[in-house]
Amino acid sequence: MKGIILAGGSGTRLYPLTKAVSKQMLPVYDKPMIYYPLSVLMLAGIKEILIISTPRDVEGFKELLGNGSKLGMKFEFAVQENPNGLAEAFIIGEEFIGNSTVSLVLGDNIFYGSNFGNRLMRAASLSSGGIIFGCYVKDPRAYGVVEVDEQMNAVSIEEKPEHPKSSYAVPGLYFFDNKVIEIAKKVVPSPRGEVEITSVIDEYLQRSELKVEVMGRGLAWLDTGTHESLSEASNFVEAIQKRQGLYIACLEEIAFRRGYISKEQLLDLAQPLIKTDYGKYLVEVALGLQNAQTVHS
Ligand code: TTP
Repeated sequence: MKGIILAGGSGTRLYPLTKAVSKQMLPVYDKPMIYYPLSVLMLAGIKEILIISTPRDVEGFKELLGNGSKLGMKFEFAVQENPNGLAEAFIIGEEFIGNSTVSLVLGDNIFYGSNFGNRLMRAASLSSGGIIFGCYVKDPRAYGVVEVDEQMNAVSIEEKPEHPKSSYAVPGLYFFDNKVIEIAKKVVPSPRGEVEITSVIDEYLQRSELKVEVMGRGLAWLDTGTHESLSEASNFVEAIQKRQGLYIACLEEIAFRRGYISKEQLLDLAQPLIKTDYGKYLVEVALGLQNAQTVHS
């Protein structure tokens, strides 16, 4: 499976922070926001990743992430000229996806929870159809909302409904088979002018090829689109990292624990960061002083 991070958009709800800087480059506590969705794809076992951003911001992401080889990964980059909608990622990424299955994650979504890595690995082993997630939230009106029956089968999906049929919001993490490219190409832009991911999901639903994985209380899903939610996400990451001493979305740690890089490579990556707690943490991980069996995202 290949992975796409969509890290464009206009970020108008975060103005003036995002007037000159990509939202996905902003700090969430101690690391750039894009580290979090990138860690999710890494935890899913995906090694080839396309990062899509705006013409203004794509160079910054190249500088931040490079070609991925330092992490034993492969990163490519592409431009979305205008924020025409999430499903455009599959059209822009057509060549990159090739004949593969694909996971899309939005650059401003943060996930953290126990056993999440295993769930991701399972989702990434998909061979046909689509998998989305359903997260119980107090007010789902700002999101895609999926209605499920007692067996947790999807019944309907609606984008930002005024009167939601359920409390399950669909987070920005999707797994699809290769048909997604053709399906995305056929989507008619919505009244707000966007190629909606909800239309793609609905097509899988109509074909009875959609699975919804409902996330229980054990998973935290945060989005960072407003000043309040961005600040809350930072506080959340700080609290977990300080309390547990285990890092969220530490890319180098995941690469090491997944066996993509050696102990020596990890120690080399730690060097330029050594003045920070992040760098010191990498050294501890390399020396085996962090014995967490599970890798968290
Ligand atoms: P949104 O938060 O819906 O949009 P936005 O980032 O443009 O922000 P605002 O509403 O404040 O103007 O986007 C969700 C994520 O998807 C975010 O990471 C940006 C990304 N995105 C794109 O890369 N391209 C797009 O066409 C859209 C709509 C979003």
